[in-house]
Amino acid sequence: MKIAIIGLGYVGLPLSLQFARSGVEVVGIDIDKQKTDALNRGESYIQHIPRSAIAEQLEAKHFSATTGFSVIREVSAVIICVPTPLNKNREPDISYILQTGKAIAPYLQRGTLVVLESTTYPGTTDEDLRRVLEEGSGLTAGTDFHLAFSPEREDPGNPDSKVASIPKIVGGLTRACLEKAMELYSKAIKTIVPVSSCRAAEATKLLENIFRSVNIALVNELKVVYAAMDIDIWEVINAAKTKPFGYMAFYPGPGLGGHCIPIDPFYLTWKAREYGQNTRFIELAGEINTAMPQYVVNRVGEALNSQRKSINGSKVLIVGLAYKANVDDDRESPSYILLDLLKARGAEMAYYDPHVPVIRPTREHPHWSGTKSVPWDKETIESFDAVIVSTAHAEVDYEQLANWSRCIIDTRNALAKTSVQPGVVWKA
Ligand SMILES: NC(=O)c1ccc[n+]([C@@H]2O[C@H](COP(=O)([O-])OP(=O)(O)OC[C@H]3O[C@@H](n4cnc5c(N)ncnc54)[C@H](O)[C@@H]3O)[C@@H](O)[C@H]2O)c1
Repeated sequence: MKIAIIGLGYVGLPLSLQFARSGVEVVGIDIDKQKTDALNRGESYIQHIPRSAIAEQLEAKHFSATTGFSVIREVSAVIICVPTPLNKNREPDISYILQTGKAIAPYLQRGTLVVLESTTYPGTTDEDLRRVLEEGSGLTAGTDFHLAFSPEREDPGNPDSKVASIPKIVGGLTRACLEKAMELYSKAIKTIVPVSSCRAAEATKLLENIFRSVNIALVNELKVVYAAMDIDIWEVINAAKTKPFGYMAFYPGPGLGGHCIPIDPFYLTWKAREYGQNTRFIELAGEINTAMPQYVVNRVGEALNSQRKSINGSKVLIVGLAYKANVDDDRESPSYILLDLLKARGAEMAYYDPHVPVIRPTREHPHWSGTKSVPWDKETIESFDAVIVSTAHAEVDYEQLANWSRCIIDTRNALAKTSVQPGVVWKA
């Protein structure tokens, strides 16, 4: 069996390798030639994917990468894993999906299965993607070719999370589409969970991410309320999670980050308006979570003030630039908002992140591009007036940090187990 996987990023590359390991011949397609060239040389650009995992599949001739779409003619299935960001008005931008659909359509054959994996609002597969595929190919979905949606579930940074063992939701346009998609995924993934439609599958993914966003907002709100009462939210969560039923622990932080949780819920908000529906929980969670960086900045101000210093003119270090512990992914990271907010208040900003040695050029933060992580040594760390722990990477030695810094703003409870002097750590 030969398939194509389009979009070789955090989702598409591990999925390609999983299919390849399962004996399926995978052609990976990406518009970024640097990525396809790197892959064909056996190089990885994602930290948790080792070179050997790519090299093995290249050697076995189970995997190759290209920027050309004509190979679609030869495959029995196409899986689309392209980005679904928000535009500058925070509305869904499905242009990557539509562009991909248009690029596939001229080569689409009768009987081919097309599956969308990108997170998106209900209706994207059976309205938007279907339209461009049908227009460009002259074929009819459900009759001439199969169409399905199957959301990706990734847990970046979790070494126990393996593509093959995460149950896979699948919804098809027709019964036959569903069966084709289940047959495809069962080659590489252990448990397939069928649902009645593409829309139900799209809605399932959104529920999962909205659930996280709302629960993170809840503990962020309680963090602020409890702090005013001099109660430590971390102690409370650790106690609450001993309840064996009806409770699931979520943790506060400096704000949401990553490509999913800050973005996906608003895909539903936008689509719900078409049906005259409001998404008040989603909006409220968004409001609370996006207020967190400002809360952290206020705590930095208090902490510095207690040492008769102001933000203006102080040297402030952010520890952890990636949005999540133990990963190198800095997309939508609240650390960037902290850098911007504090710089605007006159602080001299720097960061330390063992996973992000230098800031790559991005559309969102071009002004930080090229900035390098400071080295981790006593002299450097001591030179900062305040240190904010924004992401709690496991490699960071928090005991050293506790010894080297006089003022630490801890948004992750990373200093909890260190023997720190009273008055040094400010939880935020
Ligand atoms: N990263 C995660 O943990 C995660 C988890 C679940 C779901 N998702 C969803 O999966 C989708 C992909 O996310 P990602 O993190 O892999 O993104 P990514 O940015 O890492 O990768 C996307 C890839 O698609 C390529 N691309 C863009 N337009 C293209 C086109 N027209 N044709 C071919 N390739 C194209 C890009 O060059 C890039 O390599 C998104 O919808 C995201 O919401 C991501």
